[in-house]
Amino acid sequence: MKVTMVGTGYVGLVSGVCFADFGHEVVCVDKDPAKIDTLNAGGVPIYEPGLEDLIAKNVKAGRLSFTTDLKTAMQGTDAVFIAVGTPSRRGDGYADLSYVYAAAEEIAGLIPTGDNSFTVVVNKSTVPVGTGDEVERIMAEHVSRAAFEVVSNPEFLREGAAIDDFKRPDRVVVGTKDSRAEAVMRELYRPLYLNETPIVFTERRTSELIKYAANAFLATKITFINEMADLCEAVGANVQEVARGIGLDKRIGNKFLHAGPGYGGSCFPKDTLALARTAEEANVSLSIVSSVIDANEARKRRMANKIVAALGGDVHGLRICILGLAFKPNTDDMRDAPSLTIIPRLVDKGAEIVAYDPEAMEEAKKHLPDIAYTDCPYAAIDGADAVVIVTEWDEFRAFDMRRVKELLNAPNVIDLRNIYRGKQMRALGFSYTNIGYPAVPANESA
Ligand code: UDX
Repeated sequence: MKVTMVGTGYVGLVSGVCFADFGHEVVCVDKDPAKIDTLNAGGVPIYEPGLEDLIAKNVKAGRLSFTTDLKTAMQGTDAVFIAVGTPSRRGDGYADLSYVYAAAEEIAGLIPTGDNSFTVVVNKSTVPVGTGDEVERIMAEHVSRAAFEVVSNPEFLREGAAIDDFKRPDRVVVGTKDSRAEAVMRELYRPLYLNETPIVFTERRTSELIKYAANAFLATKITFINEMADLCEAVGANVQEVARGIGLDKRIGNKFLHAGPGYGGSCFPKDTLALARTAEEANVSLSIVSSVIDANEARKRRMANKIVAALGGDVHGLRICILGLAFKPNTDDMRDAPSLTIIPRLVDKGAEIVAYDPEAMEEAKKHLPDIAYTDCPYAAIDGADAVVIVTEWDEFRAFDMRRVKELLNAPNVIDLRNIYRGKQMRALGFSYTNIGYPAVPANESA
C-alpha cells in the first residue's frame, strides 16, 4: 500500500515509520522545511527510543521518504493520514482544529478523481466527536463523494514506548462503515491482524469518542490513586500496597495506579479538557472528568507545598536540586510537566533551583530560563539542601546513595515518584519523604 502521512510531529512520524516497517511505501509530509531537512539528513526532531534506527532502516530499504511537497507525495496514494496537532485553544480549552481543517482543504485539492479512483483520508489526530463529518464536508466541496472516504483511526501511543505501542497494540480502532475504506485499513494493519490484535471497526463518531474516553479513564485512574495516596499519608497506610491490593482484581487491573505528582504530557491534560468542553456543548454533565481535571491541577500545585513542608516550612535561601523535568521518563517532552508548576512556586518562595534531566533540559530552558542546570546529576546534588525526584528516570534509581549523602549539604530527599525505599533511605541517614506513605511507617519505628 502507498501511504501519505501529513504532519511529522510525534504521532505522524512514529506512525509513518512503523507503517513503512510493516512493508508499506510511506511518504511523510510536513510544512516545516527545517524538520524535513533534519529527517532527510538522518536526524530525528523528537526524542523517542528506537526511532532513529527504524527511520534509517526503512529509508535505506526505499520504503520511507520525507518531503514538503504534498502533491508529489499523494501521487498514487491509497491512504492519506492527517496527523497534525490539535492543541488546546487558548482560553477555552476546546481542541483547536484549524490545522486539521487546513490539511483537509489541501488534501481535497489533490485527491485523484478519475474513474474508480478512491483515496481513504484517515484522521489520526485526536479530534472531538463530529470532526470527521466536518472533514468530509470540506472535502466534498472539492471532490466527488465517490472518490474518497473519511475514516477515524485514533492513536494510543505512549511517548517513550511509542514504537512498541504501534507494533504491539492492545487494539486498533477504526471508525468507518464504508467497505472499500475498511478493506484498505485492514490491509494497512495486516501484520497486526495476523498477530490476532483485535481491530475494532465501528462508526466514525464512536471511534472519535473512544480515544477521549480511553484517555479520560486513564487520567481518572491516576487521579484516583493520587487521592488514595493523600489519604494513606493522613491515616498511616501504604499506597503502593493499596494499588497492588486493588490492582490484582482483574476488573480494576494493575496499570496506571502509580501515585505521583499528577499527570502531565501532551494528551491527558488537553484531551480531558476537550472532552469536558464537548460535553458542555452537548449539555451533558461529565462531573467525574471535570473533577479529575481540577484535582490534577490542584495536586501539581500542592506538590510545591509538600516539598516546603518536608523542608521545615521555609525554603528561603535553600538550594534545591530537582531531578527530572520531563513529564515522564524516556522523553524530552515538557508539555504540562509537573516540574513546570512545582519549580516556579519554589522559586517564588525564595529557593535556589539547580536542575538535571537526561533529555529534557533544552526544552525546559525554554520554559524555565532562569534556573541553573547541570550536565550531570551528581553536580546538581553537590552542595544542595535537598534532592527532589520529579521524574522517575532509571538512572536516578541506580544512584550511589552514600555518595549522594556525602555531596548534599543536608540529607533531605523528597521522592515524588516513590523510586526509593523509605526504610533503606532512613537507615542511610536521610530525611526521606515520598508519596502515599506515613512519615515514618509503624513497622519502622523500632
Ligand atoms: C498517553 C496515553 O497513555 C496514550 O495511550 C495516548 O495515546 C497519549 O497519552 P503519554 O502521555 O505518552 O500517553 O504518557 P503516559 O505513560 O500515559 O503518562 C501520562 C502521565 O500520567 C505522565 O505524566 C505520567 O507520569 C502519569 N502517570 C502515568 C502517573 O502519574 N501514574 C501512572 O500510573 C501512569
